[in-house]
Amino acid sequence: MDASLSKILARKLVVYPDPAKFSRTCVADSNFQKSSSELARARPSMQWQVSREVVLSFSVGIAVALAIEQLWQRYSDDTLRSKFSFRSYLARSTSSRATRHGHIEHNNTPANSLTALRPLGAGIESTIGNTPLIVLKSLSQLTGCTILAKCEFLNGAGQSPKDRVALSIITRAEAQGQLTPHSGDTIYEGTVGSTGISLATLARARGYRAHIFMPSDQAFEKSDLLVKLGAVVERVSPAPIVDPLHFVNRARSAAARHTQDENTEGRGLFADQFETEANYQAHFEGTGPEIFAQAGGEVDAFVAGAGTGGTLSGVALFLREKVPACRIVLADPQGSGLYNKVKHGVMFHSLEREGTRRRDQVDTVVEGIGLTRSTRNFEVGREEIDDAVKVSDAQAKNMAKWLVENDGIFVGSSSAVNCVAALQTALKLGPGHKVVTILCDSGMRHLSKFWAQVGDVGGDAKTTLEDIIEGHNLA
Ligand SMILES: Cc1ncc(COP(=O)(O)O)c(C=O)c1O
Repeated sequence: MDASLSKILARKLVVYPDPAKFSRTCVADSNFQKSSSELARARPSMQWQVSREVVLSFSVGIAVALAIEQLWQRYSDDTLRSKFSFRSYLARSTSSRATRHGHIEHNNTPANSLTALRPLGAGIESTIGNTPLIVLKSLSQLTGCTILAKCEFLNGAGQSPKDRVALSIITRAEAQGQLTPHSGDTIYEGTVGSTGISLATLARARGYRAHIFMPSDQAFEKSDLLVKLGAVVERVSPAPIVDPLHFVNRARSAAARHTQDENTEGRGLFADQFETEANYQAHFEGTGPEIFAQAGGEVDAFVAGAGTGGTLSGVALFLREKVPACRIVLADPQGSGLYNKVKHGVMFHSLEREGTRRRDQVDTVVEGIGLTRSTRNFEVGREEIDDAVKVSDAQAKNMAKWLVENDGIFVGSSSAVNCVAALQTALKLGPGHKVVTILCDSGMRHLSKFWAQVGDVGGDAKTTLEDIIEGHNLA
């Protein structure tokens, strides 16, 4: 039998190891008509041929595996590890890079590859922090800078940076014996929404009750959600901070009343997000270090709005230590007094005395940032602020639309303000700089108010850079 024939037979034997099937196969093969006796004679040598090929392939396989193992050991042992290791390969392959000229090198490896896996976590608290930092591709291409956004809307409890603050407030209070789980202890807070949602979620997770006061002009998505989380919610008329009926003052006094009332179970804890150190410290210990590490230790500017000032101050204080030349830029919505405070040292126009406005944010559709008074969390980092950018509602709305049209990113109003200010900062710094900002929450929290005014987004990308910078009315 010639060699090619025995190879064909060997192949068929591998597929059909049963001799009966083997003969049937051979007979059925039109190119091969042999008597069964010839086949019987041929079988031993064919089987030898098969075994030889199997053994050979097996040996080659083992040799190749050993060689790969050897190489792997070498690379992971020496200084080449960081350059060629599987881990760093994965790290490289999971990121996009913006070059100095703003050209984005896409890498489409999904974010859930091995390096991105979180360790097993204990409860909803374990989903807080360690949020992704992403390249805002469209804005980076436009400016020639690398504009990065910290995805704080991916914190897993209340889906905003307030998760960090709420966890920080609760764990500190627990450590100081001010909260005891399942004792009826109740957390009181005055909030425009996000902090309340984070507190209410974590209160459930840790055995407390939540009682939230919020101004009645905030989007209903937030108070509806609070009710679903089992919090007591009071939507109260806007009032100046000097008024005992301001939502923050109401929360403080309700907590005190609870503690004093012997007929009420447990104690009342006033979370006090505007004044407590637990706020900016959460960002000093978490958000700041994460940004620094994720940005590879290079940040030319950090841009964020201030609701309490906790995010801006905490991150600014951390970055100032690590990257002294980093510019800290306040993003301020219309109606807020903070821009003036940074630029001119005073909050208002002489016609409006500090802290006396009926509403905290006048004539703006933006929620979550902007203040008409200074808070401890803003003051603690104020000296670090180098610049401020005033953002109109129209600019914010156009940016929100732009981000959907070009990047598929659907965010709320404060994130849009941050991105306008990040864009302005990048244009001011010029190409080649790295600017970091915050995406605070999802657009879903703002459907009935901010996004109702933004309007629908069509199939094509229509919003232009000029629309954003000049704040054209597109509605
Ligand atoms: C929607 C929203 N915008 C902005 C901010 C930043 O606010 P702050 O200055 O209180 O850190 C937050 C904070 O969590 C937020 O949830």
